[in-house]
Amino acid sequence: MELIEALRTRRTVRAYQEQPVPDSMVEYLLHEATRAPSACNIRGWRFIVIRRKEQLRWLYENGSASFIPEAPQAVLVCYDNRTENSAWNDFEQSAAAAITCFQLLAHEQGIGSCWICHLPPRDEVRRHFGIATDYTPTALVTFGYYRTGQVTSPRDLSGEVRRVAYEQWDFEPEMRDTASGLAFLARKTARFLYYLMPKRAWLRRYALKYEKKF
Ligand SMILES: Cc1cc2nc3c(=O)[nH]c(=O)nc-3n(C[C@H](O)[C@H](O)[C@H](O)COP(=O)(O)O)c2cc1C
Repeated sequence: MELIEALRTRRTVRAYQEQPVPDSMVEYLLHEATRAPSACNIRGWRFIVIRRKEQLRWLYENGSASFIPEAPQAVLVCYDNRTENSAWNDFEQSAAAAITCFQLLAHEQGIGSCWICHLPPRDEVRRHFGIATDYTPTALVTFGYYRTGQVTSPRDLSGEVRRVAYEQWDFEPEMRDTASGLAFLARKTARFLYYLMPKRAWLRRYALKYEKKF
């Protein structure tokens, strides 16, 4: 697959074939994804491949998206957080670079994926998976073979806003109306309070109603 074709046709996929991707393929994808650039060439990626349903269910029950337990597997992307340049969050950027490569490589192999940040609080994820303090869990990526007939069509970019300026920021100010500003604040507060609750699994069926459908 040409790179431009992979870029144009990769779309997020949240439902997969049940059959898991073999470990050899997972390792190939993760290995090649680490050709991504990284700040100071630190190459601080560590990947936890999650195949056990109870682990996927734990993520869901503690505050993640409901489709996660249905995925045949996922990878938790962690990155070395010992950076001199925390002002620019460079370790998060390095982690993200490999995720993008992974998603494109996976797509080329007929494997769909979803990058996920709606996750339980980081400290809880860290404790649950036994992640060393020098590493930070950055995101979860669910993935699996495309279902028969599943098509990923290019995004329609016609009618897009202007995104490019030269030398200086010269974009029009964006207005957010009061109602949507308040709704955003309410969602943010509800989310904050929800994640403060130590035992939130029992709340899942109510929270599900408000789960953002992407
Ligand atoms: C940083 C980041 C976080 C994301 N978090 C979630 C998430 O928590 N749950 C989810 O279903 N999708 C998540 N996504 C996937 C986006 O919803 C998806 O990329 C977006 O809707 C655009 O669709 P596309 O990937 O098909 O172009 C995330 C993507 C990124 C880059």
